Amino acid sequence: MSNSLQGFDVRAATFAADVDHAFWLNFWISIVLGLSVIIPMIYFAWKYRESNVKDEEIENVTHNTTLEIAWTLIPTAMLMVLFYYGYTSMQALRTMPAVSESIVVQVEGSKWKWKYEYPANKAGHVHKITSVYDKKLGGVQRGLYVPKGQNIILEMTSPLNDVIHSYFVPAFRMKEDVVPGRITKQWFNSNVVGEYVVECAEYCGTAHSYMYSKVVVMEVEDYNKWFESTAKSPFEDPDAAEIPKGQQLYEDNGCAGCHSIDTDATLVGPSLKGIGAKHDAAYLKDAIVNPDKVVPEGFYPGVMPPFALPDADVDELVKYMQSAK
Ligand code: CUA
Repeated sequence: MSNSLQGFDVRAATFAADVDHAFWLNFWISIVLGLSVIIPMIYFAWKYRESNVKDEEIENVTHNTTLEIAWTLIPTAMLMVLFYYGYTSMQALRTMPAVSESIVVQVEGSKWKWKYEYPANKAGHVHKITSVYDKKLGGVQRGLYVPKGQNIILEMTSPLNDVIHSYFVPAFRMKEDVVPGRITKQWFNSNVVGEYVVECAEYCGTAHSYMYSKVVVMEVEDYNKWFESTAKSPFEDPDAAEIPKGQQLYEDNGCAGCHSIDTDATLVGPSLKGIGAKHDAAYLKDAIVNPDKVVPEGFYPGVMPPFALPDADVDELVKYMQSAK
């Protein structure tokens, strides 16, 4: 996945063609209507320029019925055509399919990560995925996994202490705000297997431009195999050694999006490399739960949200931070 606005070269959702159709129709009708005003305007300005017209030649024209009817009806008809295609394509996006025929995924957007939560699988396992942009790797490791040809409904929200984001998938031509304290929805059905970039389309602060995720459309069998498993992603080696709890929490909470832990690089916040040698556990714990209490020099309060995590999780995170030498 590249770090640029991409996705408009494919139409990977069922309604994408309708949206494009409405867009291009809008574009060309606007050009025609615009030029039909601008070209005569320039022509008349030139024709009736001051040096070219004598006062006595100016007639008092009251009206021209034919012309007036024409310039009312033609643009009205064109705009009604626009309205029709705009409205019907919007309907396609805004009418949610039946929940019984869809997979409903909870989406949470926050500074600066996306989280997905699926319904429980047959074994009762609930997939929870954190999608965060990794500057070192230049992409997101995990995303929203969906089967091809299925209705997917996204129920989206943002935490109350966060800001407005917007879930935008250019390849699907769909975009909707993600608002603290409110649930917004959108849906799609993709028939093209592939990976599609998700971008945050609402300016939400420092790392807005890195608030990426991805939608991975998979063959139905591959999806089902993953969904019924407990694997974090369909592409992870099931035999890989389990990663330590602290590291897992670090990934799941999207810490890596803002804090480098194995290099000295400053991302949004300070690097955590070697932090255990500089501060004790109590300080580190505070830094997670109450980040504005002590803000390191060169950084600003209010950037990092406080993390309301169970005590045991905070302890694991602190241990992981202390281990980063
Ligand atoms: Cu989230 Cu911009």
